[in-house]
Amino acid sequence: MKLFIDTANTDEIRAAATLGLLDGVTTNPSLLAKEIARRGGGEQEAIFKEICELVPGPVSAEVTATDYEGMVRQGREVAAIASNVVVKCPLTEDGLRATRTLSGEGIGVNATLVFQPIQALLAAKAGAAYVSPFVGRLDDISTTGMATVQEIVEIFSNYAFSTEVIVASVRNPIHVVDAARMGADIATIPYGVIMQLVKHPLTDIGLARFVADAAKYTS
Ligand code: G3P
Repeated sequence: MKLFIDTANTDEIRAAATLGLLDGVTTNPSLLAKEIARRGGGEQEAIFKEICELVPGPVSAEVTATDYEGMVRQGREVAAIASNVVVKCPLTEDGLRATRTLSGEGIGVNATLVFQPIQALLAAKAGAAYVSPFVGRLDDISTTGMATVQEIVEIFSNYAFSTEVIVASVRNPIHVVDAARMGADIATIPYGVIMQLVKHPLTDIGLARFVADAAKYTS
């Protein structure tokens, strides 16, 4: 399973990249607004360019227009920033049309704000390279987000779609474990959760004991 980081914060991306496990990045307008505020200003184009240089894998950059023409225009603009940009389009009627147009031009599209399996099927049929079911937001409304992922994985494998499933809106390590057990292609994970994946108290306790014992025979 590929691991993406879900952030536009370039310090976090740089830190996660040092682990050598980062396969890509996903951003959205909320994450971008946070990063621009953190920097005290800045242009989205420059930030996307910087992220694309930090990570060679796919970097999702979302359109902010909600109409077909606007999404296609913005999609072409962001795709021109770097060869690893993937255009994120919302799963709406106009978003599906834009997905078809952009993917027909060879531009990778990540269909975002996916909350049910049938939306994922439509995105795959429209030519999306990726679909992003938002599991945490489904959990938030007392619906099991990972059940949606399981159904999407099953549907895609029934028809051998090449569209990859990105488990998004990840809130905890259990989401990541479940994604891997279900055979999802990718989990896109906030920085804090990536760090949680590494940690186990018994690892820390065990290491402290080994270090103490090693001190008995090393100078
Ligand atoms: O990038 C989209 C998605 O991962 C957002 O997550 O935590 O805002 O629901 P969240």
